[in-house]
Amino acid sequence: MGTDFGSASEPGGSGRRATRSLGPAAGDVRLVLLGPPGVGKGTQGRMLADEKGIPVLSTGDILRAAVREGTPLGRRTQRFMRAGELVPDGLIDEMMSARLRQEDVRGGFILDGYPRTRGQAEALSGVLAGLDEPLTAALLLEVSDDEVVRRLSGRRSCPACGRVYHVEHQPPRNDQQCDADGHALIHRDDDRPETVHNRLEVYRRDTAPVAGYYRERGLLVTVDAGAPPDEVRERTWAALAREPAFRR
Ligand code: AP5
Repeated sequence: MGTDFGSASEPGGSGRRATRSLGPAAGDVRLVLLGPPGVGKGTQGRMLADEKGIPVLSTGDILRAAVREGTPLGRRTQRFMRAGELVPDGLIDEMMSARLRQEDVRGGFILDGYPRTRGQAEALSGVLAGLDEPLTAALLLEVSDDEVVRRLSGRRSCPACGRVYHVEHQPPRNDQQCDADGHALIHRDDDRPETVHNRLEVYRRDTAPVAGYYRERGLLVTVDAGAPPDEVRERTWAALAREPAFRR
């Protein structure tokens, strides 16, 4: 599939170069974000990445860009995404194995939306072992299903840069326009209530067990995400503080 794996046009900051923060251990931040759809992985991932000066690799953003651009990867994955089903492991693992070998993630990274199955978690461990860059931690964000539905029904996203807003909790400064680049905001196809229900089912069946995979390896950190974004960020920093790489 060549370079069909995230590029300069990849939203969510994945195409930007890592600028190392001043923290001496910044390069050690290799973090996986886990949690149900809409819990706030993208929101928290961006905050953490901005503080640490490292890229966020969002599989959802990479796949949506591929669909939008009509690439071979996008054509193969579109129907799974629209239905709220997982894209097959083989495609995702190949995509992320290539992405994780790129130069801009050598200073650390945050993974948003990967791994999502135990098989993907094993594949990721293999890639990182080969690079001699093991994970620092896996952060599990938790909220109730009702709160997931509230967050997703009010979410608006920028189709160009991937930035997310919420009509009540995080509204854009200009109605329906991205603060960063002025693009018209969209309500994602898979945020319709019937698809959200299926995404929650898929999460419980396939993705929740990934937390167990990291718990067994002593890497899991759990945070109650049922609070405003800034409060969740503070809870997250407090929970991660035992890792030297996360000291501010
Ligand atoms: P993906 O894009 O990864 O979707 P997701 O995991 O369902 O996560 P979301 O992006 O929906 O939510 P989020 O947790 O990032 O929440 P956000 O910060 O936006 O994946 C989409 C699809 O791609 C999948 O269904 C699958 O088909 C495919 N795919 C992707 N990765 C795959 C993989 N590894 N394997 C196979 N298939 C894969 O926040 C949500 C809303 O809440 C926003 O409006 C935000 O403003 C608001 N908000 C955030 N935090 C708070 C807060 N603390 N309080 C109040 N509101 C908040």
